[in-house]
Amino acid sequence: MGDKLKRIKLKDILSWAYEVLKNANVDSPRLSAELIISHALNISRLELLLSLNNTIDLNLYTKIVSLINQRALGKPVAYIIGKKEFYGREFFVNQSVLIPRPETETLIDTVKNIFRKEDNFLFLDIGTGSGNIAITIGCEFPNSIGIATDYSIHALFVAYKNAKIYKLTNRLLFICTDIARSIKEHSFDLVLSNPPYIGYKNFPSLSREIRCFEPYRALVGGYMGWEFYPSLISYSFKVLKKGGILIIEIDELVAKNVKKFLNNHKKWYNVQVIKDLSGKDRVLFAKRGE
Ligand SMILES: C[S@@+](CC[C@H](N)C(=O)[O-])C[C@H]1O[C@@H](n2cnc3c(N)ncnc32)[C@H](O)[C@@H]1O
Repeated sequence: MGDKLKRIKLKDILSWAYEVLKNANVDSPRLSAELIISHALNISRLELLLSLNNTIDLNLYTKIVSLINQRALGKPVAYIIGKKEFYGREFFVNQSVLIPRPETETLIDTVKNIFRKEDNFLFLDIGTGSGNIAITIGCEFPNSIGIATDYSIHALFVAYKNAKIYKLTNRLLFICTDIARSIKEHSFDLVLSNPPYIGYKNFPSLSREIRCFEPYRALVGGYMGWEFYPSLISYSFKVLKKGGILIIEIDELVAKNVKKFLNNHKKWYNVQVIKDLSGKDRVLFAKRGE
């Protein structure tokens, strides 16, 4: 085979990838193709678009074909390229952790409305996954100290790797436990959590991307979806100081039940539901009473 035949134009690979992904009905086929190809070539998307007339060899081509085929089968781009942006920072992800969602940034905005950048406070992040919430709080509040829990040791490996990237291992401690078991009582100023809150009954209607690739226990909170919250709220009450703040993610399907549970508990005050940027109920805020 002559040298020319062993090389393939990027323009042709991009059109091929786009066609494959479009026919496979994946979301944003063009964007997916660009992200995956630029990842395989270790260049930015812009560099890719500026070098479409360049050629690559058969080895790289084979690698790209394999990655594009994974995307065509529904694997999310974040798992293929191993990263996802959250609150302006890049987080390493793999299939042991939920892919951080933009709506979860509402939790961070809520904390920023309460604490000042220079405040000292101790926080607990329950169900940390990739560590996106705990690490973002650690970065945004340089005097904060945090503990992050997850029942999954594999998720904690990912979170620890991200904490190392952001040089936070001296201010963030990771503990493998169920919710907040074995965490010291009455010691935290703030508890944060984005718990699993999808109902098992709604699981079959999730997209293939979520259903087949993201960790089941990061998603499903019980048959109805709200079942994780009573334990989460009870543990939070135990570990928070008096006047400590609870900030947890919810969705519209569970908001009413969780708010009712908090109000019935009678030991919480200032209970509020905060909406995300698309106007949906997203965060539940409460203060711990006596
Ligand atoms: C919805 S994901 C949130 C991950 C991450 N905090 C985020 O916002 O993207 C829920 C996380 O809770 C963890 N989890 C599920 N059940 C748990 C339990 N009983 N105790 C501790 N963590 C749990 C899952 O492993 C998963 O990482």
